[in-house]
Amino acid sequence: MKLKEALKDVLEDDELTRLTKSCDIIGDIIVIKIQPEFESKRAIIARALHKIYPRVRAIAALPLFAYTDELYRTRDLEVIWGDDNLETRHRESGCVFAVDLKRVFFSPRLSYERMRIADKVAPGETIINMFSGVGCFSIRIAKMQPQTMIYSIDLNPYAVEYMKENVALNKVEGNVIPILGDARAELKRLVGVADRVLMPLPEEAHSFLPLAVRALNLDNGDGMIHYYDVSTGKRGDALFRPAFEQAKKILYSAFGTVVEIQIDEQRIVRSVGPWRYHVVLDLRVHKTIGT
Ligand SMILES: C[S@@+](CC[C@H](N)C(=O)[O-])C[C@H]1O[C@@H](n2cnc3c(N)ncnc32)[C@H](O)[C@@H]1O
Repeated sequence: MKLKEALKDVLEDDELTRLTKSCDIIGDIIVIKIQPEFESKRAIIARALHKIYPRVRAIAALPLFAYTDELYRTRDLEVIWGDDNLETRHRESGCVFAVDLKRVFFSPRLSYERMRIADKVAPGETIINMFSGVGCFSIRIAKMQPQTMIYSIDLNPYAVEYMKENVALNKVEGNVIPILGDARAELKRLVGVADRVLMPLPEEAHSFLPLAVRALNLDNGDGMIHYYDVSTGKRGDALFRPAFEQAKKILYSAFGTVVEIQIDEQRIVRSVGPWRYHVVLDLRVHKTIGT
């Protein structure tokens, strides 16, 4: 790791081994997770980082147990070097995303997941992104499949303002429809319209699952839900079982045997702690025959 190389004269060897591996470059800002034992060395670490990445305008620290806003999923960042303004533009696979890291959720670590989902979309689909943030999933889909319509909901007003800016920056007006609101209320107006629903809110998605199913158009076959959850345990097939069982239980109590689900694909999106993972299940949803 370049950072360890740059710090080898100022930190002890054992400190270098323990130093964080969690460091993201978002636009011209670095976000680094710093363990409490390195609190007093934050300035040294920031200077070393700036030496490696001279174009960076600000370096923000994320304390190890940083507070995450439960609703908007924003994190408590502290600028330890440079500009206090954490608004930036991040480039990702031909898209550009304007974000303010103090006001909206953004993770460059979801880049592969965004590409994976965009790859699955067929021309002409109608899609609902229930928790869109600044619109990254929706915009990647619209760029890859221009004949799609993606209703993109978020209840953070800042996220929706940035989403509108991003829709314009990426020239996907008319394909991505930004909606400021609570998905719980908005989905009541979007019943039976979607081929695909995205639910990228791992901690809470389960409680919205019946709404997501109602949003699907199941008249001519099946629909797809990208269902995100948090799983604890060892990597392997068993890791996904509790999420699937819980989803089945929720849907059984909402729809009885009228709706069936099966997993098309399952994967770990990212690790969020020891033995703790954000996972995604691609759930194919069918109405059972005779309904
Ligand atoms: C983990 S972020 C996902 C952001 C986005 N999908 C991305 O890739 O950047 C979850 C988002 O859901 C939004 N959110 C949380 N509860 C919501 C609700 N009930 N209705 C709509 N949006 C909600 C938050 O404001 C946040 O922007």
